[in-house]
Amino acid sequence: MANLEVRDLSPVFGAEVSGLEPKIPLEEATLQQLRKLFDERKLLVFRDVEIDRDFQYYLSYAIIGREEPKQDPSVPKRESFISNKEENGIAPFGRLLWHSDMMWTAEACELLSLYGKDVGQPTTPTMFISSAQAWKTLPQGLRARVENLTAEHVHDLSYERSGGDETVLTAKFDDDDCTQLPLARRHPRTGETLLYVCQQMTSGITGLSKEESDSLLEELFQHLYATENILQHDWLKGDLVMWDNLALQHARGNVEAEGPPRTLRKTFAPMPAFLKTRQPQFARAMN
Ligand SMILES: [Fe+2]
Repeated sequence: MANLEVRDLSPVFGAEVSGLEPKIPLEEATLQQLRKLFDERKLLVFRDVEIDRDFQYYLSYAIIGREEPKQDPSVPKRESFISNKEENGIAPFGRLLWHSDMMWTAEACELLSLYGKDVGQPTTPTMFISSAQAWKTLPQGLRARVENLTAEHVHDLSYERSGGDETVLTAKFDDDDCTQLPLARRHPRTGETLLYVCQQMTSGITGLSKEESDSLLEELFQHLYATENILQHDWLKGDLVMWDNLALQHARGNVEAEGPPRTLRKTFAPMPAFLKTRQPQFARAMN
């Protein structure tokens, strides 16, 4: 069994893990330890590791106890990059508002990971908050008001929610998928309750007028995104960050297209079916 050392990154969530030797497969005892840690801490950081796309995908699936889908060997393996330099980079510039990826589909993407392939300094950090902790600490009165409600999530409300910040990036899709989910959403693996609304994608609360819904969402956002709840990850080349995409939300400050390289290889587990065929167009929110 690997000799893993673990250091908590905040009192509530996040842990830095050292001592992992990347190989496929990992020993079962190591995987058990990582799975337990992932469900407890929800975000794991491995620093200064050299890994390829295959290991990143393998670990992304293994850590949530799923089999990686078999891939046709005649089809080239695809890599996705959050990047201001790679051709077809995802979110190539701009600021991203708080969200969980693909909140607008009921098809849960349970784990996201990013690996620092090429990171120049200074670079823009990624920030995280815990929707699980936000539910636990939600004031009783507010909790009673929302626990039986559902909320609607759409692709991207960055334009509307940018607060006039022209650096905010918006993603345009060629369809208008949306979904309604319980505002107190149960985590499919851990059973924890999550305060499941976000700044970037939650369009409204079912059954309330727009005015009531906007006002209630604003109260919930103030609780979710309070400065003291934020964990910041400062990127270095060779960092691997894996997080629970349902229990945590993420955001980032502005990335300049002309700034230092910021190329982070991204994995989704399980991979949402739509990503194989569709990619959004990215633009400044005020364009
Ligand atoms: Fe994201």
